Amino acid sequence: MQKFIITGGCRLSGELTLQGSKNSALPIMAAALLGEGESVLRNCPTLTDVYSASRILSCLGCKCSISDGNAVIDPCGASGSEIPEELMREMRSSIMFMGAILGRTGECTFSVPGGCELGPRPIDMHLAALRKLGADISDCGGRIHCRIAGGRARGAKINLPFPSVGATENIILCAVCAEGETIVNNAAREPEICDLCSFLRKRGADIKGDGESTIVISGTDKLHGCEHTVMPDRIAGATYLSMVAAAGGEIILKNTCTAEMEPFLSVLEQTGCRIYPAENRIYLRSGARLRAVRDRIRTMPHPGFPTDAQAVLMAALATADGASVFEENIFDCRYRHTAALCKMGADIEVLGKVAVVRGVPKLRGADVEATDLRGGAAMAAAALAAEGTTCLSGISHIDRGYEKFEEAVSSLGGRIRRV
Ligand code: UD1
Repeated sequence: MQKFIITGGCRLSGELTLQGSKNSALPIMAAALLGEGESVLRNCPTLTDVYSASRILSCLGCKCSISDGNAVIDPCGASGSEIPEELMREMRSSIMFMGAILGRTGECTFSVPGGCELGPRPIDMHLAALRKLGADISDCGGRIHCRIAGGRARGAKINLPFPSVGATENIILCAVCAEGETIVNNAAREPEICDLCSFLRKRGADIKGDGESTIVISGTDKLHGCEHTVMPDRIAGATYLSMVAAAGGEIILKNTCTAEMEPFLSVLEQTGCRIYPAENRIYLRSGARLRAVRDRIRTMPHPGFPTDAQAVLMAALATADGASVFEENIFDCRYRHTAALCKMGADIEVLGKVAVVRGVPKLRGADVEATDLRGGAAMAAAALAAEGTTCLSGISHIDRGYEKFEEAVSSLGGRIRRV
């Protein structure tokens, strides 16, 4: 089991080019399974989750190669419809292949990933939506089998009870090759959904309204290959900015999707950091002690404050002047990183979905274990701000979502080693 040894207390400074988005690359890789023709994905991040997605594609009979930040995917001859249990376990977001497999073959068998690091992650909305598109679904000892009579989904009107990102993506992936029109109401509006739709449109799909609450998809049976550049990772961006805010220093973040990061940037700015955003780069300078954020930080579906940035911002606010209050509205169990931050000297009280962070003057290094991807990144940010050395284990979580994490941190002058 690898670990990061991080010695904090030095200011960070430098330039960083943002990686491609994990949450965009994964559904786009699933979308490449549909239709015919080779898809070339540029700026595809080199991450363990991306390799897991590539293994799923290979197991379905699809050709997939990844090198130098490019993924080349050719679905010609892909006829598999089953995701083995071990691949489902490797990556919980494998669930998003369900819509694409159904769209391609008219049937799909997979297992539901069990209890999860962020609390229960049910897939009821995914299944209800696929039923509307014509799938018969049965559960046999934890293996779920979906089958569409006649092999081709039929367009439908789907009202989501909550704007779930994954369910919206699965609907799009299944409906894009369906017969007729699908209307999704209360769809998720996350930028990664727009990136998925932009990829599919390049392939010949007819999708309108992505980025808004109602998405209209007119099915087609002809999707061809294309070349697409995966959008920048706004959550990795939020992480590196929070890190510099926490440790002090300055950063020029390049290849950003600045407009899409606005819900995060507007909160970070309240800490007193100087932020100069341009279209595709962000300059941040963190001076003296940060200020607590006055308004309650409520995680909400986009364009609200992103749940994925809650932990990393909390690490920065752990040493701010005053108390900040978080309200986690997306996941039930997304404060598991707070125990590690408290071990490092933070003063955080969790009451249900609220966390009160009373800023302390200093954090100190400790032995801590990453509990999940963003929680692990928050611990690394806290370690860089802390006095002394932190031994951070469980870093396979971090490798799921951050490309060459220690190289990025070292390039800013952070003292980090993988052992
Ligand atoms: C995606 C992101 C994740 C992010 C989350 C919210 C990917 C790979 N992951 O996850 O990083 O934190 O969006 O922005 O893109 N829910 C149900 N039933 C369902 C589906 C979801 O109850 O069928 C619940 C979930 O348990 C959760 C909430 O809805 O409480 C939001 O989940 P969802 O938007 O679906 O998140 P994911 O797609 O899993």
